[in-house]
Amino acid sequence: MRTTVGIIGGGPAGLLLARLLHRAGVDCVVLESRTRQYVQRRQRAGMLEQGTVDALRAADAAARLDTEGLVHDGIELRFERERHHLDFPVLTGGRTVTIYAQTEIVKDLVALQLTDGPPLLFEAEALAVEGPQSGAPVVRFRHEGRERTLACEWVVGCEWVVGCDGSHGVAADAFPAAACRTYRHDYPYSWLGILAEVPPSCDELIYAHHARGFALHSMRPPRFSRLYLQVPNGTGLEDWPDDRIWDELDTRFTVDADWTLRRGPVTAKSVTPMRSLVHEPMRHGRLLLAGDAAHIVPPTGAKGLNLAVSDVRLLAMAFTELHADGSTRLLDGYSDLCLQRVWQATRFSDDMTRMLHAQPDGDAFDHRMQLARLRRITASRHAAAELAANYTGLPLPL
Ligand code: APR
Ligand code: PHB
Repeated sequence: MRTTVGIIGGGPAGLLLARLLHRAGVDCVVLESRTRQYVQRRQRAGMLEQGTVDALRAADAAARLDTEGLVHDGIELRFERERHHLDFPVLTGGRTVTIYAQTEIVKDLVALQLTDGPPLLFEAEALAVEGPQSGAPVVRFRHEGRERTLACEWVVGCEWVVGCDGSHGVAADAFPAAACRTYRHDYPYSWLGILAEVPPSCDELIYAHHARGFALHSMRPPRFSRLYLQVPNGTGLEDWPDDRIWDELDTRFTVDADWTLRRGPVTAKSVTPMRSLVHEPMRHGRLLLAGDAAHIVPPTGAKGLNLAVSDVRLLAMAFTELHADGSTRLLDGYSDLCLQRVWQATRFSDDMTRMLHAQPDGDAFDHRMQLARLRRITASRHAAAELAANYTGLPLPL
């Protein structure tokens, strides 16, 4: 099997890249280690920046997003029993965000690719990328238990591999240790997330800072609520029966105003550690990384999926330019351009995380600083506008 661009990973990054390349006339193949059912059931985030929605529309992959996605004009911050609305269109000159689950994006992209797209192989696990610095890199992979070799071949003799294989993939392992560096920070807390079959308790995302820990109210409209609680690292789900989760959410969302958290049957539950990770550079020879394969952000800023989409938008432009006139200008600039945005998103996610979570090792002074930061955002239009600009998404660095 031969192709121009070999894509490892069929998450949102790999699938959207394949769709964009296919529409630009660039030949590619996607290898996904899991089954279709597995990738379509995995619960992930769901907050889309305007640029992400625009990219899905431009890829003609937004039919369901446009009818089922919920456009949001802002978020609510809660602390000291008060609620504060941040109005994004007013603060950013008209920008909004949209709630549409990543799982649904994956379902939409898989369906499109299986009907009218390039090959997408499920249960095809990449084992290694070989020869990333040669003119003909090879992805060794196992398909439904067999071993085959996929050579990736560009029509003008160039060949490329893109690692979109998430945080536990193999593509980053093909970078020699001397040619790369990983920057990593582990936060001293995790998120316990639930999906509950109950309509959301209000129209907005609520980010709540509480002395007992952070809580987030989100949704999967029309029938589901998505809720998160800060918990200590190492927390086991057995310690958190449903009633305890609801009671804790109630406590952390408490406000003086009249507001009730709706409870319902919990249909999914998981614990995710919080970390930041950036792999530099994002290119080695003919191997490029995109999405979680190159960077992880804590979910407080809702940036993971959006960063993955902006990486592949840049990559698709770069391959289209190469296909059109043989220029590697954008491919050569890819890593530096992406990393500018990645570090800004990492900074924003880190700021939100530190401001909103109870700090296990923090003292009373640290807590006062958190409250002072929150007060500044709710008191100053300038400070609120800075948060809104980052949350709704910084422009692509082009
Ligand atoms: N071979 C083939 N596929 C692989 C391999 C491998 N060796 N290793 C991992 N994969 C697949 C995974 O099964 C998964 O489907 O790669 C895919 C990676 O997808 P995601 O983890 O969803 O990562 P990405 O596409 O970069 O999506 C952006 O940002 O914050 C997050 O939740 C957000 O998952 C989202 C991510
Ligand atoms: C979600 O809807 O899952 C979600 C929303 C906002 C976040 C994180 C997760 O910051």
